[in-house]
Parts: sequence; structure tokens; C-alpha cells
Amino acid sequence: MTLPEDAPLTSFVIAVDGPAASGKGTIATGLGKAFDLPVLDTGLLYRCVGVMMQKAGANLDNHEEAAACALLLTADQLDDPALRTRAAGEAASRVAVHPRVRDALMEFQRTFARQEGGAVLDGRDIGTVIAPDAQAKLFVTASPEVRAERRWKQLKAQGERVSLKDVRADIARRDARDGGRDAAPMRPAPDAVLLDTSEMTIDHAADAARRIVEAARAKWISST
Ligand code: C5P
Repeated sequence: MTLPEDAPLTSFVIAVDGPAASGKGTIATGLGKAFDLPVLDTGLLYRCVGVMMQKAGANLDNHEEAAACALLLTADQLDDPALRTRAAGEAASRVAVHPRVRDALMEFQRTFARQEGGAVLDGRDIGTVIAPDAQAKLFVTASPEVRAERRWKQLKAQGERVSLKDVRADIARRDARDGGRDAAPMRPAPDAVLLDTSEMTIDHAADAARRIVEAARAKWISST
């Protein structure tokens, strides 16, 4: 990951955006396997900044401290299981509203996107801000009810004790914050393909995503 920040996006980049628990993480992992590309879950970067702030006892609304944490972040911190908790998701969405946090995390994401051969990145603003030139873009959605159930099951499997009602409220709060913020709000890029996974099993969703990306890849190859 040593290419300069302004290196062109010449390789195959897949942007997978969407709200919490839409299935985008599993889809991104499946696409990485199918197209033999490395995958970056960019939500982990924001989760990591949120957890660093909490560990330091800092106020999540303090943009200066949050930006300072973001500048300290290194790749080896992203494997920490503590980043997968419900509290980390909430903290992530609060620090993600700060433009200086987003700026501090941008180079890490763009460098990942520009690596030789390409990459898959999943998040909220990959197709719009981080890799607007990505050759394949998906915006993965599912109804809030379906997403809440998925996230609740995931959290239960991780050993967290939380009610479905509280997870529903988390999802609604995060959707509103991620979509309503001024800095890089969550939205589909104009050229993204929308994939609603509400009625799909995860295998079905992964297959549909693979077909969308195969079509984008064929178009990209024929145009180069
Ligand atoms: O994807 P995940 O739910 O782990 O993301 C946690 C939070 O990080 C999101 O709710 C969002 O506020 C923020 N995020 C973001 N931009 C990204 C990825 C995540 O703002 N590219």
C-alpha cells in the first residue's frame, strides 16, 4: 500500500455501500473471493476511532480529539473483536459525522483502493467520495425490520444481550445520522446498482451481487 495518493484507478475497484446490516459486508467478502481481490470493511476504521475515543474517556462530539485518534490509526488495530460490538457501531456513527475524521481516514482508504489489481471496499461513501471512479458500484439495502433482525441475531451470536426493540432503535438512529450528516452522507452514487436484499438469503444476495459485478467487469474490459 505505497502508491501515491494521486495514482490513477487503473485496476478493478468494487464499491459496496449501504446502511447497517444490509448484508454489504458479507457481499463484499464474497466479491473479494469471487474476483480474487482484497477487501476493506471501512466501517472498522470509524469503529476503531470510536473505540479509541471511548478508551481515552473522550467526548465523541469532540472533533479535534476524534481527528487526532483517526490520524493515529494503523491497520493492525482493525482485527480487534471489540470493534464488532453494538457500542462500537454507535460510537463509529457519532465520530463519522466529523469532516476532519473523514479526511484523516481518506488516504488509508484511497491507498487501499489503488493497490495493484484492485480492491473491494464496503462502507457508506465509497462510490460517492472514496472511489468515485470505481468500475463497479453497488448500493445494498434491506428494509429496516429485516436489518434489525439480522443485526440482533448477529449480536446475540457474539454474546451481547440486547432486545430486538433496542436494535430496531439503533438502526433507525444510525440511518438518520448516517444519511442526514453534512459530511459524505450515506447515499447511492448515481451510477450504483441498487440491490435490495430484504427477501433474499445471504447466498442469493451474494450471487446477485456477483452477477452485477460480472456485468460491470465485462463492460470495463470491453472499454479498455
Ligand atoms: O459499516 P458499519 O456499520 O460497521 O459502520 C459503522 C459506522 O461507521 C456507520 O454507521 C457510519 O456512521 C460510519 N461509516 C461511515 N463511512 C463509511 C463506513 C462507515 O461513515 N465508509
